[in-house]
Amino acid sequence: MRNENLVSKEDQNPLKNIDQWEEDLLIRYPDPASINADKEEQQFRNYEETEKDGVKEFYRLNHTYQTYDFVQQKKADYLKFDKEEMPVWSAFDFLNKLVDDSDPDTDLDQMQHLLQTSEAIRNDGHPDWMVLVGLIHDMGKVLCLYGEPQWAVVGDTFPVGCAYSDKIVYPEFFNLNPDIKNPTYQTKLGVYTQNCGLDSVHMSWGHDEYVYHMMKPYIPEPGLYMLRYHSFYSQHRDNAYDHLMSEKDHEMFKWVQLFNPYDLYSKNPNQKSWDELKPYYEALVNKYLPANIKF
Ligand SMILES: [Fe+2]
Ligand SMILES: [Fe+2]
Repeated sequence: MRNENLVSKEDQNPLKNIDQWEEDLLIRYPDPASINADKEEQQFRNYEETEKDGVKEFYRLNHTYQTYDFVQQKKADYLKFDKEEMPVWSAFDFLNKLVDDSDPDTDLDQMQHLLQTSEAIRNDGHPDWMVLVGLIHDMGKVLCLYGEPQWAVVGDTFPVGCAYSDKIVYPEFFNLNPDIKNPTYQTKLGVYTQNCGLDSVHMSWGHDEYVYHMMKPYIPEPGLYMLRYHSFYSQHRDNAYDHLMSEKDHEMFKWVQLFNPYDLYSKNPNQKSWDELKPYYEALVNKYLPANIKF
């Protein structure tokens, strides 16, 4: 089933660009380091009413269309990894095309966000595979370039097939999701069992789930947790799904929590140039990843 059948073209992409979702996250979760700085006031001032409407509309669509069946269909399609094969560097070039249709006040292209995240992790002395996770964590956003609407690429992720937590942003929009009328999906545990572990839980479809499966053979397990759950805010910020988590998940979520501030708050105006950074990152990618990745 193509998403285009469900909604009109504009309705597919209510955000001015996919980064607007992350800008909104910074308003929900301001950088603790800048809470008392002028920056915060300015952030709010720059955030126009119309942009807020775009974000709200984005969540309306996301919560309406991310059903259990939708997730199964997307997994069946994308987890075959039969779209193309390319080196990560080509994927980043491909991702940077996303800036083309964005507005002039987007200051960073996708590659810059990835490098700022990975450099902040590297500067804090974390293991090299975590630096690599910083570099590739948003690579799944290539889904946009395969024609997926914004609401099937970015946004907070959440389990499908069980009751929605009111800790998920705009929970009222779940009333529009057909799954709300399916009693099997609306008990607290839904199709799952108590503390079954997140491995057996289906998450809403997006760039996190896609890159997680893509990287499964190559990255140490804590890194895979960072990839799969970095947008699962209702759990890593609010512990809303403890009833599905295993002991191991709880242990591993310490890594997800360690990673999150690097994703949100690593903007660095004095970032080293790509020419300077290139030798390190080429060696890092060669250490863990094959020459070509299957998308
Ligand atoms: Fe992300
Ligand atoms: Fe990110």
